Amino acid sequence: MGTRTNVHISIPKFKLQEDYQLNAPLASLGMVDVFNQDRVDLSGKSSVRVSTMLEALACLVGHWIDTKGVLLFLLVLLVTKYIRDLPSKNYPPGPFPLPFVGNMLNISIKDRIGSFKKFVETYGDVTTLDLGGGNRCVLLSGLRGFKEAFVEQADTFTDRPSYPLNDRLSRGLGLISSNGHMWRQQRRFALSTLKYFGVGKKTLETAILQESHFLCESFLAERGLPFNPEVVTNNAVANIVCTLVFGHRFKYNDHHFHHMLKCSEDVFQLPATFWGSMYNQFPTLLHYLPGRHQSAFINLGTIKQFIREEVEEHKEDRNPSNPRDYIDCYLEEIEKNQDGAAGFTEENLLYCVVDLFGAGTETTSKSLRWAMLYMAKYPDIQEKVQVEIDEVIGSARQPSMDDRAEMPYTYAVIHEIQRFGNIVPFTPPRVASKDTTVAGYLVPKVGVGSMDGGGDVVILLLEYMIN
Ligand code: HEM
Repeated sequence: MGTRTNVHISIPKFKLQEDYQLNAPLASLGMVDVFNQDRVDLSGKSSVRVSTMLEALACLVGHWIDTKGVLLFLLVLLVTKYIRDLPSKNYPPGPFPLPFVGNMLNISIKDRIGSFKKFVETYGDVTTLDLGGGNRCVLLSGLRGFKEAFVEQADTFTDRPSYPLNDRLSRGLGLISSNGHMWRQQRRFALSTLKYFGVGKKTLETAILQESHFLCESFLAERGLPFNPEVVTNNAVANIVCTLVFGHRFKYNDHHFHHMLKCSEDVFQLPATFWGSMYNQFPTLLHYLPGRHQSAFINLGTIKQFIREEVEEHKEDRNPSNPRDYIDCYLEEIEKNQDGAAGFTEENLLYCVVDLFGAGTETTSKSLRWAMLYMAKYPDIQEKVQVEIDEVIGSARQPSMDDRAEMPYTYAVIHEIQRFGNIVPFTPPRVASKDTTVAGYLVPKVGVGSMDGGGDVVILLLEYMIN
């Protein structure tokens, strides 16, 4: 025999009661004061009635879960993720990030550098920014942070992060975006080969003097009339890279080469454009949408084809015992290097040359054009430089690196131009390969070549290094 037990049934007082007016439908089922814990009485209800009541409740609760419940559930999830993504105590300070967009609304589209300067003024030399979607960035802006991260912990900060745009453009190859063992091997090879062909030595100085002679002749041919020096200066600077990489230069009226340089500029500028940022946020969508990124992808193909043709010509007439340039040496390395992980392949050769062009041409050419502009804008300084040139070099010979020690004023002006011109305001981002600290703040590690490890991207704001 079962024992008689009093069961106390209570239904919690939902806020729902008011919103959905449950009292009326429940009363029609014979249940009054269901939500009043003290007065509710369910005794005497037939099983049929109770089951009808439960169905009614299930129907109402089901309706509630369909709409508000799903929204509430999502909101709880988002808030949990947001709180989890909030910087811990030991992170560098920075502006408060909003859900989804992080600090993107704090960064002006028109004056990005101005916005970064404001962060530095407010939060100091080491700042955390949320670039949206929980992707954090540590902005270094002082000499102390720079030395601590990139000199004292150089081995920890060698890797670059993986971004959809970078992955699409470089596929982890080349000199700028490669990582780990491959990057070390490619960089070591590039440095030693470029040095072998005269970088930092007299050999290259001769090629530079010859090119500057052609450039001056081309300027003189304008007979003092206004002209745009951009194309010809780009051509002259790129010719130095070409001498090292292809073993020959291109004439100033070679329009095919000019087109190649334009393509290179377009590709290298893409990451800093609106379309570049959009691609990093929505790669799948942007893959199908038209925009500047699509033309840059086509232009990258054009440059690669241009370099491929040079490589094919080199293959036909190279003499392994007498390498003429970087391509000859690289082809030789592909044949003899046994280390597969070092990445000495023809595809990687194309990307390395793309990087040498992109990194070497625009930077130097832009610096020269700033120099021309500043000399025109400050004629008194131009005059002092000219006096020093006349005194030390004269007009009967070309300058040489040996003259530098005798020309402190000109030397200082060149540095001042680079400081003012500030042509690379940020370094390309890097990531830490292990958890570490910079200026006492935590910089968490990221999985090599991946943002998935949750680490931070580190960017050096060069503006503050040089000012
Ligand atoms: C005024 C001239 C130049 C400036 C201001 C400049 C500036 C820079 C900066 C800021 C970086 C990033 C460094 C980093 O992330 O740690 C860089 C990297 C690089 N630069 Fe230059 N550069 C100049 C000329 C050149 C030239 C002439 C070449 C080659 C012919 C070159 C090849 C490279 C390469 C290959 C990298 C990538 C290095 C790596 O990630 O391992 N640059 N440059």
